[in-house]
Amino acid sequence: MRILVTGGNGQLGVALQRSLSGHEVRAPGHGDLDVTSAGAVSEAIELFRAEIVIHAAAWTDTAAAERDPAAALAVNGEGSGNVARACAAAAIPVAYVSSNEVFDGEKGAPYDEDDATHAINEYGRSKLAGEEAVQEAGGDFYIVRTSWLYGPGRTSFPEKIIERAQADGALRGVTDETASPTWTGDLAAALSRLISTGRFGLYHLAGEGSCSRKEWAEEVLRLAGIDVPVAAVKQSDFGLPFRKPVDSTLANNRAAELGITLRPWREALAGHMRTPQITELIAARAAH
Ligand SMILES: NC(=O)c1ccc[n+]([C@@H]2O[C@H](COP(=O)([O-])OP(=O)(O)OC[C@H]3O[C@@H](n4cnc5c(N)ncnc54)[C@H](OP(=O)(O)O)[C@@H]3O)[C@@H](O)[C@H]2O)c1
Repeated sequence: MRILVTGGNGQLGVALQRSLSGHEVRAPGHGDLDVTSAGAVSEAIELFRAEIVIHAAAWTDTAAAERDPAAALAVNGEGSGNVARACAAAAIPVAYVSSNEVFDGEKGAPYDEDDATHAINEYGRSKLAGEEAVQEAGGDFYIVRTSWLYGPGRTSFPEKIIERAQADGALRGVTDETASPTWTGDLAAALSRLISTGRFGLYHLAGEGSCSRKEWAEEVLRLAGIDVPVAAVKQSDFGLPFRKPVDSTLANNRAAELGITLRPWREALAGHMRTPQITELIAARAAH
């Protein structure tokens, strides 16, 4: 299949390029394809004769989205509409990557695919606007919600925890934010399988199980062999201008019916911790 990936230089974009090796893939970065330009998106689809677009580009900076909601909406909402309408016009499907943050986190149990959405921050509202735009575009679509991405090629949560633990000798971990850590390689492989099914619709694909930020940090440190305490704190202790959902764990019901599941998050994290990105970081820091 000829697959166009938006946001090709992002964390997931890079993992997708690795996972989709059996396909012909074009994955332009932001500089080469800006999804806020409807014309550029249509042209990219036409020139490549794409058979599907995996739309992984997004404005992912939650704090910046809170400061400038219109700009976040322009990319995550209207930009996603541009991609979905261009796909509909070319009669090809779009796979839009969405977020756990379309939920408010108050359910008290994992979210099913058809649970009511209610975003509580500007980033979440902009991702929800993207979902609506994709559904309204009139073409075939997959909407795939995921959460807490980390993986190769980027300093994400595990790397930041190790760096901070080694620099400060102490950490604070949030207890009132729970979701599922998801390794980008696992999500990319699952997405690759999903788009080959032709079973369009709304899906949840996240690492199996869930934890708080504090538990995630503790597991990173345990696997890294770093003995540093993690003090329990609340989101409000950081004085951030936005709230994250308290528990936005996603239940992967529909993909599981198709036989598509992701590994338990601890198992995936253990694999990531054995990659050179982490082992070299630990060794370099220990040598200081
Ligand atoms: N990261 C998470 O924890 C998480 C959780 C749930 C869902 N998601 C969703 O998963 C998808 C992939 O996330 P990710 O972690 O891979 O994010 P990422 O690493 O921030 O990658 C997103 C990419 O999109 C690009 N981009 C931004 N604005 C663009 C525009 N107007 N046109 C084209 N490209 C643009 C960015 O380029 P520049 O950096 O050059 O602007 C970046 O390379 C996103 O849809 C995100 O909302 C992420």
